[in-house]
Amino acid sequence: MGNVSVIGCGYVGLTTAVCLAHLGHTVVAADIDASRVELLNAGHAPMYETGLDQLLAEGLANGRLRFVNDSAQAVAQARFHFMCLPTPQGVDGAANLDALDTAMEELGDVFPAGSVVILKSTVPVGTADEVRARLLRPEVAVVSCPEFLREGTAVHDFLHPDRIVIGATNDRAATDVAGLFAAIDTSVLTMSNRSAEAVKYSANAFLATKLSFINSIARICESVDADVLDVVAGMGADNRISAKFLQPGPGWGGSCFPKDVAALSHLARSAGAPAPLLDAVLVANDEQINHVTTRVMQALGPRPVDSRVRCEARIGVWGLTFKANTSDRRDSPALEIVRRLQAAGLTVQAFDPTVSEPITELPELVIAGDPYEAAAGCDVLVILTEWEEFALADLQKTAEVMRAPRMLDARNIFAADTTQLDGFAYSGVGR
Ligand code: UDX
Repeated sequence: MGNVSVIGCGYVGLTTAVCLAHLGHTVVAADIDASRVELLNAGHAPMYETGLDQLLAEGLANGRLRFVNDSAQAVAQARFHFMCLPTPQGVDGAANLDALDTAMEELGDVFPAGSVVILKSTVPVGTADEVRARLLRPEVAVVSCPEFLREGTAVHDFLHPDRIVIGATNDRAATDVAGLFAAIDTSVLTMSNRSAEAVKYSANAFLATKLSFINSIARICESVDADVLDVVAGMGADNRISAKFLQPGPGWGGSCFPKDVAALSHLARSAGAPAPLLDAVLVANDEQINHVTTRVMQALGPRPVDSRVRCEARIGVWGLTFKANTSDRRDSPALEIVRRLQAAGLTVQAFDPTVSEPITELPELVIAGDPYEAAAGCDVLVILTEWEEFALADLQKTAEVMRAPRMLDARNIFAADTTQLDGFAYSGVGR
């Protein structure tokens, strides 16, 4: 079993730390946020993830896991160092590597000889080579091991991955890192650092492409009176395509896809191999967000053209997070749609199971305490996140509290022909 340090306790770092401790390794995880470290040592995770609390409690109780505020302290006793730092979108879409650069500068001399730095954050192709060149310590290996976990199912995805990708120039380091995951039953693909870095960007960009593609097909279906869900069933039955990741929606978001597609596009341009398809994927997503916004406004019917005439229409929103089963609203299409509706002069009130206070990004958004309060007095109700709670809601009660019972189900959580929807003017996306 290995001695491991984890630098950065966000979604990826914390999941890595608790899961490696669960696999039997001794883990010291560091974060620059002292209050986060204190909470973690007391057994409180800063985000909700299925299974995370249990593994956190397990690791703290058996002594294999602890959190510190000082990354040098975490690194000093460890042989494997997982760098799990944020790489947000920077200028021109390029990934901003400041957090990684700062950590590497601080820790460069502290990594024990013979230890292995493992880059888990999503980084541009060539980053591991640059880190190695700047480190100037040939006795410290630099390995790429991209993480593919999804928020909401992070622990499950870490412990049951479709594959583990390891990029290295040093065979021994690659074998040792693979050894950390020996208890996980999956295939391990070993390649160069550059290829491993490219795998992560390509996988995310491909998934985002699938989503922009199906959202475009959904818009076509709406125009030609076809049902996108039947189209997905028919397409997805082809093994080469598969129906996974083909659910149309209000546009895709989250902390990874938007920044990673932009970063890959930037990388492509800098490498002299521009990839216009990637830019089209981003444009199509923005168009989908706009399209859903427009459909909400169309559902209201004709409105006064004179902008001085105050519009009394009220929109109810179900769901603000970028997908269900996470409290994360980063780059959520729901927030962008609310913003665009408000910019068009509409009053918006919303319910999300993870939101109880007004949100700083949208101070004028009225936050409701339950789905019915969000629908009360509204002219249109739009479903933007696929929380199970919405599928189980009492639709008759919902229709009764609305001023006009119109629903735009931008996640297609209801079957269009269900009797549940009696009394509603209902439409989904692509149907
Ligand atoms: C993603 C990748 O899936 C993961 O492998 C990577 O490590 C990080 O980025 P995540 O951001 O957690 O994970 O969310 P994901 O479940 O992939 O969903 C991304 C977006 O696509 C969400 O807005 C979601 O609502 C949307 N989506 C997903 C659809 O609209 N339809 C689908 O069929 C699937």
